[in-house]
Amino acid sequence: MAEEKHTLEQLKRDHEALAQQIHHHNHLYHALDRPEITDADYDALMRRLLAIEEQYPELATPDSPSQRVGTEPLSHFPSATHANPMLSLENAFNAQDLKDFDSRIRRFLSYDKEIEYLCEPKLDGVAVALTYEQGKLSRGATRGDGITGEDITQNIRTIAAIPLQLRGDFPERLEVRGEVYMELEKFRELNRQRRELGEQTYANPRNLTAGSLRQLDSRLTASRPLTISCYGIGALSGQEPTTHAKLLDKLQDWGFKVAHETTRVAKNIDEVIQHYDALQNLRDSLPYEIDGMVVKVNSRQLQLELGEKSRTPRWAIACKFPARQEMTIVESVRFQVGRTGAVTPVANLRPVNISGVTVSSASLHNWDEIERLGVMIGDTVVVERAGDVIPDIVRVVKDQRDGSEQIIPQPDHCPACGSPVVREAGEVVPRCQGADCPAKLREALKHFSSRSAMDIEGLGERLIDQLLQQKLVQSLPDLYRLTRADLFQLERMGETLAAKLLKAIAASKQRALEQFIYALGIRHVGQHLAKLLSRHFGSLAALTAADIDELLAIHEIGPQVAESVVSFFRDRNTLKLLEDFTLLGVLPQAQKTVAENTNLKGKTFVFTGALERFSRKDGEELVEKQGGRASGSVSKKTDYVVAGPGAGSKLEKAHKLGIPILSEKDFLALIEQNSAGVTT
Ligand code: IVH
Repeated sequence: MAEEKHTLEQLKRDHEALAQQIHHHNHLYHALDRPEITDADYDALMRRLLAIEEQYPELATPDSPSQRVGTEPLSHFPSATHANPMLSLENAFNAQDLKDFDSRIRRFLSYDKEIEYLCEPKLDGVAVALTYEQGKLSRGATRGDGITGEDITQNIRTIAAIPLQLRGDFPERLEVRGEVYMELEKFRELNRQRRELGEQTYANPRNLTAGSLRQLDSRLTASRPLTISCYGIGALSGQEPTTHAKLLDKLQDWGFKVAHETTRVAKNIDEVIQHYDALQNLRDSLPYEIDGMVVKVNSRQLQLELGEKSRTPRWAIACKFPARQEMTIVESVRFQVGRTGAVTPVANLRPVNISGVTVSSASLHNWDEIERLGVMIGDTVVVERAGDVIPDIVRVVKDQRDGSEQIIPQPDHCPACGSPVVREAGEVVPRCQGADCPAKLREALKHFSSRSAMDIEGLGERLIDQLLQQKLVQSLPDLYRLTRADLFQLERMGETLAAKLLKAIAASKQRALEQFIYALGIRHVGQHLAKLLSRHFGSLAALTAADIDELLAIHEIGPQVAESVVSFFRDRNTLKLLEDFTLLGVLPQAQKTVAENTNLKGKTFVFTGALERFSRKDGEELVEKQGGRASGSVSKKTDYVVAGPGAGSKLEKAHKLGIPILSEKDFLALIEQNSAGVTT
């Protein structure tokens, strides 16, 4: 008993120390962008923490770093009333507006000296208010109407750049305000993955951020790479800093991320204007989207004297940048079929130049979006190019209509194969149901051979189209059945090119398991999750056998992903596909540890009965390729008997000798598992 208490105490201390270390490294990485340890070392700390919490779940308190992964879904968000209203800002659009702002302030204060300002980027995201009591995050809320927002604490906790526990000399009570946003690169990567997975893409980082924060299931929020930039306070107990610049320094000391690299003090309004021009020039090179610059009177004393009007402070203004928008016409709409059959509507636009880039099409994303915009074919629309993100239709100019506009139809047949398309409940796009849809296969092949997947060099879009046209490839495994003679049927295919391509295809047989999982194109499984699954399961066989609960037990995996993975591996077409891959020698490689005890080297196999999934010859070849031996008769030296239906005396003998008996399925799993350990 005493000893038990001792270990519990010890574990608590270890847990506390680990939590502190993780908070510290989180802060270095997310708030200061200055990591001191590798991702792998960070993962190791987190794994140790999780292991302790698994043993003592009561240690997983809301401020534990483990809580960033999200928790059980809510049925709704409670409302959250702000201690002080969340104001908005008046807008300025040019240098003259800024000068007028400065004059108004000086007049109001009867002040004839120059006023010092702080210039901050105006991030284009979602405003939140974060409350801390005794240094612990107690509430995260949206702005709502400025008076009452929604309590989204569960989701806020998942954002790594938001401290769960304040650092240093923090006040007893603090409410911090900031903008949650997503970096452009992260946004593009997410959309790229979604496009590859045949899922609807998001219009822009702001919409995606807003949508992510409004998820009732915080595990989904946790999977989105959100971050924050803090720019003010709503409440603070104790002494307030004398300037806004000092307040930002304090926020940083307490562990918050502030946009210090683009924040400047200006001695007077002329310097503000200089900063405004400079920031506008920087706009395209920043990692995040900004839509203007916020100018604030730096002195807290002057801010208090200036006070506020009904909804806006007199001491601050947002100077907007010109929107990158133009008007053009939706000439027609085409439908693109993605890998998972998702049919996406794309507007063909009359080409228009938007700040130096010609734009001729824009994704309409899905029919919910079409409805929201109310867009029709022939409509005049406002198109926006944000950063270099895919252009987006912002709104329809309805008073330009002349009655000739046509409704955008929702196809009931796949434009590529004619099979029915079905829009299931809860889905925003219809999907082609055709098992042999050439458009799906084309996209699947493109994805399969892409660099992050099986990395088959030379197998580009043009070649894929030719292979499909000539019907040389009708499924993914068919790639591994291609011969020199097949390739010679293609245009401009010479000896050297054919040899190179066959070599590249053969080389891809031994890709890492995570690449293979990603290449399979399971819905919702992008590169990151593929890696996670590969690490967790270690072999395709183990992943194939996983059930929902097993998947849900993995951090970062929510119900949507778990269901998608399970239904993918339960599908008979998938099983056939995987079997074909194995038989063709596509043996993805995972970590060594998994395979050590399943090594086939030196093991003797006997095949018996009517094998249904592969020929005896194929089976024997596979065994030999992996260093095993195939024999015709069962003896004490036999290590495994692979038995199909109708197996007779050999099976009986194996039973008698206590030799392990494998079904064909077990055998394929063993081969696959074994191959996982051959290299790396
Ligand atoms: S200050 C009283 N500073 O812009 C001050 N706002 O229209 C109110 N925003 O709702 C806000 N960057 O979502 C402030 N550096 C910044 C900002 C910023 C973005 C957003 C914020 C606010 C809206 C004001």
